[in-house]
Amino acid sequence: MKTVHSFQKLKDNNEKIVMLTAYDYSTAQVLEEAGIDGILVGDSLAMVALGYRDTYIITPDEMQVFVKAVSKGAKNSFIIADMPFMSYNINVEQGLENASKMIKAGAAAIKLEGCNKYILTLIQRCIESGIPVLGHLGFTPQLMNTIGGHKIQGKTAEMTEEILSSAQKLEAAGCFAIVLELMPKESAEYITQNLNIPTIGIGAGAGCSGQIVVSDDILGKYTDFTPKFVKKYANLHDIVLKGVSEYKNDVKQGLFPSDNESFELETEEKEKLC
Ligand code: KIV
Repeated sequence: MKTVHSFQKLKDNNEKIVMLTAYDYSTAQVLEEAGIDGILVGDSLAMVALGYRDTYIITPDEMQVFVKAVSKGAKNSFIIADMPFMSYNINVEQGLENASKMIKAGAAAIKLEGCNKYILTLIQRCIESGIPVLGHLGFTPQLMNTIGGHKIQGKTAEMTEEILSSAQKLEAAGCFAIVLELMPKESAEYITQNLNIPTIGIGAGAGCSGQIVVSDDILGKYTDFTPKFVKKYANLHDIVLKGVSEYKNDVKQGLFPSDNESFELETEEKEKLC
């Protein structure tokens, strides 16, 4: 059974931490079978699973449905639920209430973005209440409109130091790990080397303690947009398209269902019908 402590153990043993996203029961089952160290029910599901334009629209109640499905599919995995946009920013009570929805749905921890005084207080209150927190720094998608697009963060030594300082505050507040998104590999490596807790990179090079990517991206299932940092390990889009097209042709030509896929009446009953 993987727990919040598994991440630190992997880092301490110099073993890379492998994370992926999942949004549904059957994907979660496969991820557990493959021995993935942590499964994130990311708010990226807004685009990838629901076809929304961005992550802003998804609500905690919608997220709960996906967290429930994933936690049923991967009962022995460490499942982290993303806190959606503005579900934790209004006040600590709202943040705690929505975080508790994720835990009640089956997650073992939550992820939230950024680092300011308010976020640090919220993190501490979550941890005091029994909710482990995964931090998220660098490019933080929920701030995309203020950042002004998908911009690489930590591009100078000074900016890298700023992110490190935030990361150290998240560590002091009790985060068990921090996602570092979209930054030069040297910056992410420097930050990782100056923290005790693990970092999980996405578009942040190989120097992090572990990696996370969106499953649908690396499996070639979601094709609307593929970031530069994604390596494709399968082309599910083409495999699914081929299967669906063959099924369509078979039905059109009367080849499916064949006798193999059909049920038959007993001879006596058949004769009565004739
Ligand atoms: O929503 C998401 O999928 C994420 C990434 C870190 C993978 O936040």
